[in-house]
Amino acid sequence: MTKKKYLVTSALIYANGPLHIGHLLEYIQTDIFVRFLRLIGEDVIYVCADDMHGTPIQVNAEKSGMKPEDFAMRFHQEHKNDFSKFLISFDSYSHTNTHINEKFTNLFFETLRKKGYIYTKPIFVMYCPQCKRFLPDRFVKGICPKCGAPEQYGDMCEKCGATYNVFELKEPKCAICGAKPEKRESEHFFFRLSAFSDRLEDWLLQNKELQPEIVNYVKNWIKQGLNDWCISRDKPYFGFKIPNAKDKFFYVWFDAPIGYISATEEFCKKTGLDVFKDYWKNDECEIIHFIGKDIVYFHFLFWPAMLMGAEFNLPKAIYVHGMVTVEKEKMSKSRGTFILAREFIERFKEPEFLRFYYASMLSKKLGDVDFSEDEFKHFINAELIGNVANFCYRVLSFLNKNFASAIGSFSEDHHVITECKKEFNKIKEYYRELNFRDAVKHILKVASLGNAYFQKEEPWKIVKKDVYKAHETASICANIVKNLAILLQPILPRFSAELEKQLNLSGLKWDDLGFELKDHTIGKAEIILKKIE
Ligand code: MSP
Ligand code: ZN
Repeated sequence: MTKKKYLVTSALIYANGPLHIGHLLEYIQTDIFVRFLRLIGEDVIYVCADDMHGTPIQVNAEKSGMKPEDFAMRFHQEHKNDFSKFLISFDSYSHTNTHINEKFTNLFFETLRKKGYIYTKPIFVMYCPQCKRFLPDRFVKGICPKCGAPEQYGDMCEKCGATYNVFELKEPKCAICGAKPEKRESEHFFFRLSAFSDRLEDWLLQNKELQPEIVNYVKNWIKQGLNDWCISRDKPYFGFKIPNAKDKFFYVWFDAPIGYISATEEFCKKTGLDVFKDYWKNDECEIIHFIGKDIVYFHFLFWPAMLMGAEFNLPKAIYVHGMVTVEKEKMSKSRGTFILAREFIERFKEPEFLRFYYASMLSKKLGDVDFSEDEFKHFINAELIGNVANFCYRVLSFLNKNFASAIGSFSEDHHVITECKKEFNKIKEYYRELNFRDAVKHILKVASLGNAYFQKEEPWKIVKKDVYKAHETASICANIVKNLAILLQPILPRFSAELEKQLNLSGLKWDDLGFELKDHTIGKAEIILKKIE
């Protein structure tokens, strides 16, 4: 039997702008989960990519006088840099405009076509004669046909919530140039999504990993009847050309999820593994996607149907998170609450602060996650610095100063040891269930137990008259520090690595939790994290 493998992904970010703290929620959530799996010894890879195609990227590239390839490539590089600052540990980070991705996109298309899941038919599309391009719904603005609100998009009204067909919009205008668009007929490729209704429903119902709220949503969509999906776009379009079709391109959402496979293939090339046998067609491999709630339709309907049709394995789980709000509101440039990843680092210096703060709020629930500057500062200063980091420094520097850096021996029957040990398995379960909120709570409890014990025993007071007792207390606390370094590794990899170094240890894994560290010389204690002013 082959060993179980995990393939974990986050959504492919559009190469259309800089990374912000809203995006980061997802990559931090995924990264914590992946690092946890690695820590407990699982075989896991984390793959992701930049999503490069589509009209918005093309239009923005034109506006800045660049070729779309170059424009997207610039953000691809920028995203890679920003992700590494936030310690997101991808095993492969690609983009969707590669030859490999084109090859897989064609493979999907050909396979689905041969099986009769793709057909063509003429449809009407909005066309701007001024810009000489076909317009996606989001690039048409006009008056809502239901409530009369001006300046609404071609697919839905943000005032009254109505959804409609772009041709129903009154006084339509091209959102790029303001000209009046015309209705044109054009032949397009369709994916027969409707043919997968039953299979999609079965998959939804038998999959116990999916979040119930999401399953309900998607079940309703299926019940209402699925429409076939238009997967082509007319030129000019930044994307892959559809083979043997004149001036037709694959719609960005067709080749984007295939990017998950292409990024896996790039990892396989580096490591000598096989993208199909080891991952996408391996029954011993769990494929797990992390996405935000705005892209549920694509990941719970289009993507699994594509995989079914092309005979790939289906994801074992798709975990959906809520949206980041800033001070309880949608992030907004005009209100100054649109915080870029880089601005966060400039302001608060330490990327791990954001990881810790998000972790303290994340669970499998779909609720939004609020970034409130006051709460953030208070939480970091009180808990991460006050409770955890100060404790570690206090204990290790105490050993440095009074016991020539040596951890001594102690008996196992101390109450604090049993109390700490009770937490370890709980925390493991919380991590596994993506309940990072409770994982953090209980890790903080371990730190509090250590603090309370150190405080009660007052080793700094008795070090002269009862050396043994003082050394015992400090040695037990040093073990708690080691345990914190392990428990926090998924959330705070750099802080943990630094603690490990100060403890003069390396390669700590989940199985090293416990109180076995005795007769060991540690390194020099140093302050790792400082309060936010
Ligand atoms: N390119 C598509 C996904 C293709 S996956 C085959 C896309 N890109 S995105 O850049 O708009 O979003 C990337 C991820 O970030 C999505 O999962 C999205 O939900 C998430 N977020 C973007 N803004 C967010 C917040 N404000 N809050 C939380 N997550 C957010 O969608
Ligand atoms: Zn126009």
